[in-house]
Amino acid sequence: MSSATAETLGSLHDYVEYDHATNNFLEDVLAGLRLPSKRLPSKYFYDERGSQLFDDICELPEYYPTRTEMALLRTISDDVAELVGDGATVIEFGSGSSTKIRILLDALNEPLAYVPVDISREHLLMSAKDLADSYPDLRVVPVCADYTKPFDVPEIAGEKVRAGFFPGSTIGNFTRSEAVSFLRAAAIDLGHNNGLLIGVDLRKDIGILRAAYNDAAGVTAAFNLNLLERINRELDGNFDVAAFEHDARWVPDPGRIEMHLVSRHAQDVTVGGEVLHFEAGESIHTEDSHKYDIAGFKALAAEAGWNSIECWTDPDELFSIHLLRVA
Ligand code: AVI
Repeated sequence: MSSATAETLGSLHDYVEYDHATNNFLEDVLAGLRLPSKRLPSKYFYDERGSQLFDDICELPEYYPTRTEMALLRTISDDVAELVGDGATVIEFGSGSSTKIRILLDALNEPLAYVPVDISREHLLMSAKDLADSYPDLRVVPVCADYTKPFDVPEIAGEKVRAGFFPGSTIGNFTRSEAVSFLRAAAIDLGHNNGLLIGVDLRKDIGILRAAYNDAAGVTAAFNLNLLERINRELDGNFDVAAFEHDARWVPDPGRIEMHLVSRHAQDVTVGGEVLHFEAGESIHTEDSHKYDIAGFKALAAEAGWNSIECWTDPDELFSIHLLRVA
C-alpha cells in the first residue's frame, strides 16, 4: 500500500505525493524485453524529449484527435457546465500541461477546486502553479501519483460535487480489461453520484487512422524510437536506434492501432549489463491505441459501474466525449 505526504507550496494550497509515483524503469524494460513477444510499457514514452515529441504530434495535420477534441470541448462546455452543476471540484487524471481543462474551467459556474493528478512531479507542479495564477479563486491541489494505482482524492472543505476529467483518449492506451479496472477505481475515487467527462477516439476510415500514426514528417516515428534512446540514456543501453524501424499497424480485432519497433537485422543489444538478442524482423510492441464505437464504449463504462448521461461527437464523427455518472 502506498503512502501519501502533503505539503503546502506557494500559490498552491496543498500538494500530495504518493510514494508509488516512482517507476522501476530498468526492471520493467528487462522484463518486457525478455518476453518471447517483446514489449515495452508505453508510459515510458514520456520523458522530457518524449513529452515534447508528443506535444509536436498533437499539432500534426494527420493527428486529428487533439484539435477535434478541443473544438468539441469548446462547443459542448456550456452543456457540460449545466450537467455538472455549480461549485464543482474537478479531478484530472494524467493532467500533463493542464491545457484542455481551461476550456472546462472557463465554462463551469464557480468551480471550487482543481485536482490535477500526474506522475511527473516537475511538470505537475509547474502546470499547477500556472493554473493557480490564472484562476486565483480556484483551490488547486496537485496530486503526484500514478493514477492507474489507488489514491485518495483529497477532501476539499465545502465540496459539493466531483467531476473527473480524462481527455485525449488515453483510455484507448489501456487494454479493455485495464480500461474497466481504471473506470471502476475512478468510480470509487470520485464517489457515488459524481461524474466523469472522458474523451474517446472513434473507429473510422482506416486510412485516416494509419496516417495519424505514420505522419509524413516522421514525428510519431521519432516519438516511438525515443524510447530506445531513453533506454540508452538512462539505463546504460547500447541500442543502435537506426537499426530499428517505426511500424504502426491497424489490428481489426479488437480494433486498435499497434505501435512496434522492428529490428532491421539480427543484433544483440546490452541494457543494464544484460545482453538481449533480436532476430531480423523481430518487433518490440510499444503501444496500443484502441478505437471504440459509441455503443461499445458505453457498454464498457456500464461494466465498470458508470451510467451514460450524454455523449457528443464532432460533425465528422472522428472523436467522442462522454459524460458518465457513477451508478
Ligand atoms: C496519449 N495517447 C492517447 C496517444 C494515442 O493516440 O494513442 C499517444 C500517441 N501515440 C502515437 N501517437 C500518439
